[in-house]
Amino acid sequence: MHDGEQVRSMATTPRTPLLSMKQITKRFNAVEALVGVDLEVYPHEVVALVGDNGAGKSTLANIVSGVLTPDAGLIELAGEPVTIGSPSAAHALGIATVFQDLALCDNLDVTANLFLGREVTAGGSMLRDGEMEQITKRILHDLNSPIPSVKTELHALSGGQRQAVAIARTLIGNPRIVVLDEPTAALSVAQTAEVLTHIERLRELGLGVILISHNMVDVRAVSDRIEVLRHGRNNGSFDASTASYESILAAITGATTYGDGRPGLRLA
Ligand SMILES: Nc1ncnc2c1ncn2[C@@H]1O[C@H](COP(=O)(O)OP(=O)(O)OP(=O)(O)O)[C@@H](O)[C@H]1O
Ligand SMILES: [Mg+2]
Repeated sequence: MHDGEQVRSMATTPRTPLLSMKQITKRFNAVEALVGVDLEVYPHEVVALVGDNGAGKSTLANIVSGVLTPDAGLIELAGEPVTIGSPSAAHALGIATVFQDLALCDNLDVTANLFLGREVTAGGSMLRDGEMEQITKRILHDLNSPIPSVKTELHALSGGQRQAVAIARTLIGNPRIVVLDEPTAALSVAQTAEVLTHIERLRELGLGVILISHNMVDVRAVSDRIEVLRHGRNNGSFDASTASYESILAAITGATTYGDGRPGLRLA
């Protein structure tokens, strides 16, 4: 069901973005949460979405995840225009999201949490416990996650391990794109390092990852590209390997503005 080769083969030609969002606009009454925002994500790429509180990051993530519908703009998946009308539509399109609250069940074991609500296969038959356990073990192995047993109940896991379970859960549907909203916000240094290695594994498996984070150290450690939102608009696109903290922070705070802020503008 899930393996690296299969995920890779789903990727289109290298320069077609997995996800392309163009001129996305979203208003909540008088609030312009997003105005003409562009975002592209390629296979094997981790794109960090950063910006101050209220910049529009979660709104954009919710649009990708089918939780919100944009007022205007175009979304393409692997070059094809799509409408992401609901979270289940997003799932069917290969977009998986780990929301900040994780939505895991403490009193269930690791396997049960991966398959929560998804026990039925595409063919309509129920998966047997043994099969679910095997798939769970394989996905955790793919993620290099050191969770000792898939029969461990969630309350016995560390914050980092719980995040690993939440990420593993997204891989059940064989996604192309994974959206992570603040995955390291509540974690210790060691647990954060563990989660960052899982994000690197998602990239190795060929997925496109959108990482929302306030932590510039994490962002620069794991992402390929950093997209800044400010007041609901693009305000700079940075190569994570070369951009300085100062230039990223200046874009976040508005000390510098970048033309119309559209991606494609590469800043060092
Ligand atoms: N459901 C809503 N109803 C009204 N306004 C909203 C709603 N959701 C978001 N907003 C507003 O839209 C703007 C963008 O919010 P959003 O949550 O996307 O920001 P964010 O970048 O995720 O911020 P944070 O870092 O604080 O999570 C803010 O001004 C926010 O108050
Ligand atoms: Mg947010």
